[in-house]
Amino acid sequence: MILILIAIILGFMHFGVPLIYYWYLKTNWYNKPWNIDIDYNYRPEVTIIIPSYNEALFIEKKLNNIYEQNYPKKLLEVMVVDSASNDDTIEVVNNWSKKHLDFKLQIIVESVRKGKMPAISKALKYVTNPVVILSDADSLLNNNAIKNAVKYYADSSVAVLTSSLKYYGKKQYVERNYRRFYNVIRIAESKTHSTPIHSGVFQAIRKDFIDRCGLPYHQGIEDCSIASYAAFCGYRAIQLDDVWASEPLRGNYFKTKIRRAQHNIWNFILTKRYALEKGVYVESSFDKIWRIEWWLHIVNPWLLALSAVLLTINIAFNQSIVAIILLSAGLALMVLNIFRTWITQQTYLLVAMVKNIWTKKIVWNR
Ligand code: GDD
Ligand code: MN
Repeated sequence: MILILIAIILGFMHFGVPLIYYWYLKTNWYNKPWNIDIDYNYRPEVTIIIPSYNEALFIEKKLNNIYEQNYPKKLLEVMVVDSASNDDTIEVVNNWSKKHLDFKLQIIVESVRKGKMPAISKALKYVTNPVVILSDADSLLNNNAIKNAVKYYADSSVAVLTSSLKYYGKKQYVERNYRRFYNVIRIAESKTHSTPIHSGVFQAIRKDFIDRCGLPYHQGIEDCSIASYAAFCGYRAIQLDDVWASEPLRGNYFKTKIRRAQHNIWNFILTKRYALEKGVYVESSFDKIWRIEWWLHIVNPWLLALSAVLLTINIAFNQSIVAIILLSAGLALMVLNIFRTWITQQTYLLVAMVKNIWTKKIVWNR
């Protein structure tokens, strides 16, 4: 009986904490103003870095999408940084460039593939503009994305911006639920101070923040680490509700989700320590967000796993009716999309944590 009681308490905590957090953010913060000095007329020069590895199928669409941005072309510059693609990516980019001579475009070619972030670091060395946007080759932005984003940079406390996300392609229904829930949380967190979860589909960075603090460089460094690091440096790192990006899910869905979860876990394990060691850490209300998200990513998934294990033990050894009812209720709830999405997400986090024990760095294939 005591084991069942523990299982029930763990289950309540597992589902209760995120639900209360969601409800708290939605009612208290989601509709609040930004508390940022926005200037709608601010028009800085912007460099867009597109990392590419075998993107021949997408890159032309991507360049067209940037070309169609509602932003003065003379203020824009694109850098495609390619890591030894073995398809026609470079050729497609070169051809596109020849047809769009009114547009500044540079191609940086790496002869060896070391991964997305090393490629981006290389490109960053050439950036002189005050705003740099990292954007995946397979993602598309709404036409006002850049215009809507830069207005926040009129306020010097804002360092990193990310878009809200939409998905298209297979598994869309799962991702839609997942995104609807998380977009609310991320935007609300952003209004309190910052959100530690960003996406490389669109991530804008203030150049003078990089000049002052550098970018983090630890294992598994990714979009989220850049955002969290900036927040620890005392800047705002926010998800916007007026910039949208959509991306397809390509290749093996399960593998992709695990890899992304691995990056999230590394962020929560390493970024704060990195900022502290570098001596750039500034205390702020972001620490509260960090603690909760840390709990939700690192601890909370284990509560669910433990609860399920305890119930199973009870069924196996005591044929406990209560345990059978609880576990079957859990399984039955899997018919609900939202519940299934949640459970699979928890599974990805658990697998990712275990996998991180032996993964050194991630250069991924689709
Ligand atoms: N230059 C370069 N070198 N680019 C790369 C490399 C590389 O070794 N590997 C991947 N890329 C590029 C891809 O061409 C694409 O533009 C972008 O990095 C993201 O890769 P995808 O293959 O589309 O992965 P994703 O959709 O799962 O990416 C998401 O998760 C990643 C972290 O796991 C996004 O949020 C990424 O921004 C994020 O880095
Ligand atoms: Mn992608």
